[in-house]
Amino acid sequence: MIEPAGSEPAVSEPVQPRPDARGRARRSVLAVPGSSPRMLAKAIGLPADEVFLDLEDAVSPLAKDEARRAVIAALQAGGFAAGVIAVRVNDVTTPWAYRDVIDVVEQAGDQLDAIILPKVSSPDHVHWCDLLLTQIESAIGLVPGRILIEVQIEDAAGLAAVDAIAAASGRIAAIAFGPADFMASINMRSLVVGEQPPGYREGDAYHYPLSRILIAARAHGCQAIDGPYLQVRDQDGLRHVAERSAALGFDGKWVLHPDQIDVVNGIFSPDQGDYDRACLILDAYDYHTSTAGGRRGAAMFGAEMIDEASRKMARVIAGKGRAAGLVRTAQFTPPPAPRTP
Ligand code: GLV
Ligand code: MG
Repeated sequence: MIEPAGSEPAVSEPVQPRPDARGRARRSVLAVPGSSPRMLAKAIGLPADEVFLDLEDAVSPLAKDEARRAVIAALQAGGFAAGVIAVRVNDVTTPWAYRDVIDVVEQAGDQLDAIILPKVSSPDHVHWCDLLLTQIESAIGLVPGRILIEVQIEDAAGLAAVDAIAAASGRIAAIAFGPADFMASINMRSLVVGEQPPGYREGDAYHYPLSRILIAARAHGCQAIDGPYLQVRDQDGLRHVAERSAALGFDGKWVLHPDQIDVVNGIFSPDQGDYDRACLILDAYDYHTSTAGGRRGAAMFGAEMIDEASRKMARVIAGKGRAAGLVRTAQFTPPPAPRTP
C-alpha cells in the first residue's frame, strides 16, 4: 500500500530482549490470576521481586483460553516493576500445556523471563518444556536458552525425583514447593496450608519436603522458593511460616496478596547488622590471607575465629543483602602493623 503523502509509515519500537534473570532476587514471588483483568493491572506497580501470571490453578478450566490471551496482552504491554516476569503454564498432563507455552513464548517471549512448570513429577516434564522452548526460540529468533524454567514440586513422585528434575535442564533457575497440592498428594491430615497437621506433635511436618527441595536446589545451583500461605489476612501466621523457610536457607516465598509482599521481602533479606558483619568478615578474611595481613588461613575477627568456611557463609549473606538493595554502613580497618624494634 502507498502511504499518503506527508504521513510517516508506522514504525514499531524495537523490543529489547530482557537480560538473563537467573541470579535475580526472588524473595517474594507474586501469583496473579491470568483471568482477572483487575489483578493483572494492579500487579504492574507492585514491589514483588517476581510476578507470575497464572494460567494454572487460579484459572477455571472454562476461562483458560481467555486468560491466555489476557496474559499475552499484559506481557506485550509490559511495564512491570518486578525484576522477574514469569508465566505459570498448565501442567504437562493437561490439554492446555502445549498451547500455553507456544502462544505465550511466540507472542511475548521477549518480555518473559521464565516459565513456571507446575506439578513436575519426572525429569521428562522438564525435557518436554526445554525442547519446546528451544524450538520456539530458534524458529522466531529469540536468544537461545534465555527463558528459564522454575519447577514446582507438588507431589510425592516429584519430591522423590527432585534431584533428577533439578538436573534435567540448564534452564532451571528455581525449585518451588507447592504445599497445597503436596499435602493432598501425601494425604496430610490438615486443610490449612503451612499449619502443622493436628495430632503431629513431634516436629515440623514440612521439614522433610522443604529440606529435600533446598538440598536439590543447592546441589544444582538454583534457588529454593517456599510456596504460598493461603490465610492472606493472617500476617502473624505468614511471618511464622516464612521465617521457618528463610531460616533453613530458602531464597524466597510465593505471595498471593499485595499485603504479603513487604513482610516476605523483609524476612528473606538479611538485616542491616548481618549484612554489615558479612561485608566486614569478607574484608577481614581478604586482609588476613594477603601478604600484608601475614598470609594466615585463620584469624581473629573480634572474638570470633574466621577461616575459609566463614568466608563462604559471609559471601551468601552479602550476596543476599546486595540483591535486596542493602548498602553497607561499616568499613573494615586493618589492624595497625606491628612495630619493628
Ligand atoms: C501451589 O501451587 C500449591 O499447590 O501450593
Ligand atoms: Mg499447586
